Amino acid sequence: MRIIITDNYQEMSKKAATLVASQVNIKPGSVLGLATGGTPVGMYKELVKMYQDDEVDFSEVTTFNLDEYYPIDQTNDQSYAYYMQEHLFQHINVAKDSMHIPNGKTKDVDQECYGYDQAIYNAGGIDLQVLGIGTNGHIGFNEPDITFESGTHKVTLDQETIEANARFFDRIDDVPKEAISMGMKTIMQSKKILLLANGESKAQIIDKMLFGEISPNVPASILQLHPHVIIVVDKEAAQYIE
Ligand code: F6R
Repeated sequence: MRIIITDNYQEMSKKAATLVASQVNIKPGSVLGLATGGTPVGMYKELVKMYQDDEVDFSEVTTFNLDEYYPIDQTNDQSYAYYMQEHLFQHINVAKDSMHIPNGKTKDVDQECYGYDQAIYNAGGIDLQVLGIGTNGHIGFNEPDITFESGTHKVTLDQETIEANARFFDRIDDVPKEAISMGMKTIMQSKKILLLANGESKAQIIDKMLFGEISPNVPASILQLHPHVIIVVDKEAAQYIE
């Protein structure tokens, strides 16, 4: 595991964007796994800048997002489909049918989940998976549990996650209670993983993830077993790392 500590959020974002762009430059047909939330917004901004400056070309890239709220329509401005358009997709040249996000309004959740895993498999698996981390240790929306859920599945969001995400909504009651998320197996099968975290609120969980027991109670702790993980954290989130 490689840990890169940056001075601030902007540097974290630049470093992360450089790593994603390098992946695409080395392998133009890369399959990228993407995250949403507050953490990667700066990284997407940097990637858009790099695209505009001809430093990276996404025309052959395929993307799979980690998760989507359920139920939600992709036209809803709180959906992750909308978020991805806003922050990345509408600004770069990734092909429309190469972007994948779980369908938050599917009538057949089991088929959607199965189909999502199949599509990742058929694309050759994920080359580089970008992750954020919840204050409870979730990655994707794999919440603390007694077992690791393997494939894409429907989850009930923890109260802690609902409270953390309430900042993006008018009212906490508006935060969806469920989501469709890639499972731990799908994430762990990615060839490389890039996890980002910033701010003091993530310091404790970063410490637990890196040095604590490997347990489904701290889902991100399983990354200790992955052979190719890069963690980019700002110094506030890294304050317990010796
Ligand atoms: C988002 C996702 C979540 C977030 C995590 C951190 O697609 O899968 O695991 O990465 O909740 O969210 P922020 O970045 O808002 O702190």
